[in-house]
Amino acid sequence: MTTLSLTGKDATTVAADALVLATTPATDGAGSASVLGADTLPAGVRRALESALPALGVKGTADEVVRVPSPEGVRAKVVVLTGTGRPGPKDQTVPDEALRRAAGAAVRTLAGHAHVVLALPTDTVGRVAAVAEGGLLGAYAYTEYRRRTADPSQAAVAKITLATSAHRDRGAKTAVARAHVLAEAVAATKDLVNCPPLDLFPARFAEIAQALGTEHGVTVTVLDEAALRKAGYGGLVGVGQGSSRGPRLVKMSYTPAGRAAGRKHLALVGKGITFDSGGLSIKPAAGMETMKLDMAGAAAVMHTVVAASRLALPVAVTGWLCLAENMPSGTAQRPSDVITIYGGRTVEVLNTDAEGRLVLADGIVAACEENPDVLVDVATLTGAQMVALGNRVSAVMANDDDLRDQVTRAAADSGEQFWPMPLPAELRSSMDSPVADIANIGDRFGGMLVAGLFLSEFVGTGADGETVPWAHLDIAGPAFNSGGAHGYTGKGGTGVAVRTLLTLAERLG
Ligand code: BES
Ligand code: ZN
Ligand code: ZN
Repeated sequence: MTTLSLTGKDATTVAADALVLATTPATDGAGSASVLGADTLPAGVRRALESALPALGVKGTADEVVRVPSPEGVRAKVVVLTGTGRPGPKDQTVPDEALRRAAGAAVRTLAGHAHVVLALPTDTVGRVAAVAEGGLLGAYAYTEYRRRTADPSQAAVAKITLATSAHRDRGAKTAVARAHVLAEAVAATKDLVNCPPLDLFPARFAEIAQALGTEHGVTVTVLDEAALRKAGYGGLVGVGQGSSRGPRLVKMSYTPAGRAAGRKHLALVGKGITFDSGGLSIKPAAGMETMKLDMAGAAAVMHTVVAASRLALPVAVTGWLCLAENMPSGTAQRPSDVITIYGGRTVEVLNTDAEGRLVLADGIVAACEENPDVLVDVATLTGAQMVALGNRVSAVMANDDDLRDQVTRAAADSGEQFWPMPLPAELRSSMDSPVADIANIGDRFGGMLVAGLFLSEFVGTGADGETVPWAHLDIAGPAFNSGGAHGYTGKGGTGVAVRTLLTLAERLG
């Protein structure tokens, strides 16, 4: 993994492969871009570079990364100018997320270089955190399956030095330690999403969870297919029965050390379909290959639990990974089959491609048996999510307005885009079944909300007899970047939801 350290040295004296500076557009839109001041950057060097910006055509816009030869007095081999885009309209300062993206875009484009020094504005601990996170998130490459085409110029930057006069600040040091844990959790989530489904199937996923549990002090229990059948987990069994590689339910519990009194308990449930062919309601061939992403929720949950343990958060976090492979075969479930979810509700399976809600229903019922204070599920659940919000904005639905707000705030503060969506009760009747308690599909319009309403039926009551506060995150589009790289986000798996969930856990503690 990439390491990042702080230095209080003048950034121009660091013997790195590249020195990264931030540029920003002229505020009036007409003048030339400027180089953002950094307290470790001599004013002379800044002015010299700035005077060249118009001739270089540097605009300072987001995702503009320009390499220029190092001017006199700069020890790094090359200077990289990374644009932040316009400052916020209210206070005329560059938002933390713009710095995070600018740092990430630079480090991402510098793949193949060993050592990069960042000299971006770091006048607050929040900005130190943003720059550190952006740099570490941008330092990611998935090269696991390259052999003859392995290329050193694709290797992620190995070492980042962040030049800041806050290098001795305790808050800054804590922020860097947290950024490492966070970026490693996100990178590990991306690795799992990028992994071909030939090599990542439910039993393998469960093994990975067990190994991580042993390494990081998280208790892991695994139910295999026979155990699931015996205990009545009809959703996981039904979805998994078409595959030769059976389903698993993995429970990962992180319990903080010390006194238990008053400690909160966060339960996380993740959709872990290691491949979603659609089952007998098979998907069209075009685009089916992206369905290796369908375990992104479970991967995010697993690595959030690990990160919570590594950061020793004062909150109990339990992750439930609902793992199955959705395949068509002679043993697959059929449209019109009726299955019984853990706890006893029956579901008529009218479309075997609406499988995520079936495995999540089992996980949600199981999670509620422990009376958590807060329950959040994360899933690449519906194509309708992408119709509603596109590829970069995830949806939050909830049975509790405060929790929904908490999630969107945690997301915004950590640099992920989540937007609130409703659960309109009138859509429920579209899932009425002539034979079972509920059908697994309903109105096509508002398909994301229908899926959310389906899940809401399985949220149980806590110790106080009240319904458990629950939020549902649909990350179908944002989990995988099929387009071009941008900011700190490369192609492929994005690790979305890890940062939001970890921030939420921190704030519950
Ligand atoms: N895994 C898919 C949802 C998905 C689609 C995720 C595209 C990421 C990108 C899910 O299991 C699915 O197939 N949902 C169906 C539900 C429908 C049959 C009610 C869908 O959205 O089409
Ligand atoms: Zn599906
Ligand atoms: Zn799916």
